[in-house]
Amino acid sequence: MNSLAEFNDIIRNDEPLADHTWLKVGGPAQFFARPNTQEELVRLVSACHENEIPIRIFGRGSNLLVRDEGVSGVVLQLTGEEFSDVQIDGTSVCARSGTKLSELISHTVRAGLAGFEILAGIPGTIGSAVRGNAGGRSGDIGQYVKSVTVLTAKGEIVTREEDELEFGYRTSSINELLILEASFKLHEDDVEEITRRMRKVWIMKKATQPFSFQSAGCIFKNPRGISAGSLIDQAGLKGAKIGGAEISDRHANFIVTEEGATAGDVQRLIQMAQAKVSEQFGVDLELEIQVW
Ligand code: EPU
Repeated sequence: MNSLAEFNDIIRNDEPLADHTWLKVGGPAQFFARPNTQEELVRLVSACHENEIPIRIFGRGSNLLVRDEGVSGVVLQLTGEEFSDVQIDGTSVCARSGTKLSELISHTVRAGLAGFEILAGIPGTIGSAVRGNAGGRSGDIGQYVKSVTVLTAKGEIVTREEDELEFGYRTSSINELLILEASFKLHEDDVEEITRRMRKVWIMKKATQPFSFQSAGCIFKNPRGISAGSLIDQAGLKGAKIGGAEISDRHANFIVTEEGATAGDVQRLIQMAQAKVSEQFGVDLELEIQVW
């Protein structure tokens, strides 16, 4: 497509997204783009806007199911060095959106800043963690956000302050195209204490959840605070298999895949879990993962 010709060196055509997602399934992206700089990113987004080419933002592929037919338009991933950085000033922290959440956690813990240790073990980038208000039983990332700088679909950069932002259970009010950076306010604490709390969260997860290898985190949101995993478990579906996809026998809100699995297998397993839980408990399970 001529309109994107100037970005040839950062775009791969028909890139198999199965190679990039944790579930290791799904079809190709028509254009898979990894800009090196913010300037290049803004130019690419503006070109897509002018030419009405849809853009999807790809974090690290950990909370995503791509359908077997793949996606048209541009899939954008911020892996360039310019998109990954953490700055700490007292109890204020600023992180670029492509930074891995795990890196942000280790930086802040080492600096004696408490807050993010509750997020230990959550995969993905800062951008996706903030947008989806990632968290667990001990709390979410949104409670620490002071401001976010976003890039709109038209290519404009805007900063939104705390009072303009809302965070809910795995949702936020951030609806612009992508987050460029986020700033947070943490509080000081003893490094050893923070590390101890982080280890506790980490050990709990290791003990109760499948290894992140070939899973996508929790598949469903917890309906009204009830564990979706526990409902699927009670419906007798632990270990249920369709093709190469299986409901984890460690935690029933996870699906694990093996070689040869398709996105169709995962989708059928999702539908089966929804149908069984609805039938037995009258509860409709809503997806937590994104489906493209
Ligand atoms: N349980 C079962 N069977 C299962 C899974 C869970 O009986 O297969 C029971 C557990 O024994 C426990 C209860 O259900 O008594 C709650 O389980 P857990 O502590 O694992 O919490 P969860 O509600 O299932 C939530 C988050 C996880 C997060 C954990 C720990 C959601 C959808 N899930 O799981 O987040 O890691 O708490 O903080 O909010 C994610 O969002 O991707 C995710 C994995």
